[in-house]
Amino acid sequence: MEIGKVDKLKVTAILVDDAGYDTEFYGQFGLSLLVEAEGGGKSLKLLVDTGLTPEPLLHNMRLLGIDPSSIDQVFLSHCHYDHSGGLGGVSEKLKEGIEIVAHPEVFRGCYVLRQNNRFIGIPERSSREKVESSGAKWVLESEPYSLMPGIMTTGEIKRVTSYEPLEDVHIEVDGEMVQDPELDDMSLIINVAGKGLVIVSGCSHAGIVNIMKQARRITGIDRIIGVIGGFHLRVANEEQISKTVDELDTAELVCAGHCTGFEAMKRISDRMGDRFKLLHCGTTVKFKAG
Ligand SMILES: [Fe+2]
Ligand SMILES: [Fe+2]
Repeated sequence: MEIGKVDKLKVTAILVDDAGYDTEFYGQFGLSLLVEAEGGGKSLKLLVDTGLTPEPLLHNMRLLGIDPSSIDQVFLSHCHYDHSGGLGGVSEKLKEGIEIVAHPEVFRGCYVLRQNNRFIGIPERSSREKVESSGAKWVLESEPYSLMPGIMTTGEIKRVTSYEPLEDVHIEVDGEMVQDPELDDMSLIINVAGKGLVIVSGCSHAGIVNIMKQARRITGIDRIIGVIGGFHLRVANEEQISKTVDELDTAELVCAGHCTGFEAMKRISDRMGDRFKLLHCGTTVKFKAG
């Protein structure tokens, strides 16, 4: 698929687990990023995920000077409550008729059985109907979907690695609990003119290596200049961590936080040195056409 290109890209972490040193941001378990891009006479202000609850998200937006009504589109990386929980509250402040792009499976119920069937999907406060009643429209696409020339979703991720396993989370199918294939886990791919790809992921449940491989495969572009987001490696084994660090090292910059986990962050940081950046509230990463 022809992705197109952008000339300028800025990614700002609005809400992450870590508030950052010496800031007034509210940190909270979850993730919300703002992607701002310009290219070919067009521009896009895209909200990626919405954290766990709307209050810290809106507080941090105020501090960052982000007016919710100036946001053009929303991308929900997957259903989990720490990414979708703020959506209901923030949607009331977004533009009338704004599109929320997500995978068609995003509304399914998913549960952690070992934690007393704890529900971890989209909370009631951000339900499909609640979000629609505030005037937003869901755009449900499992295939790669273009948001503007130069920016597209990965679509559903093909799992090709042997060391990025399905997780111990479940969905109900015909009255039976089965392992959740987490098909709704999607990331963003942005192509910066003359440079290469930037990948923005939520939790990378499909595996960040699978995601990087898919980005390269569907765009035909090999050079990755940035990988930003949560990589969900908190409980990963040694093989997964070391192979993931090898793959991330093929990118020029990695900016990680949220569910990446301390051990994996330490390993990425040790390998990549100043090409590693910690993702905390207020972190900004900029890219320009080369
Ligand atoms: Fe998640
Ligand atoms: Fe998460």
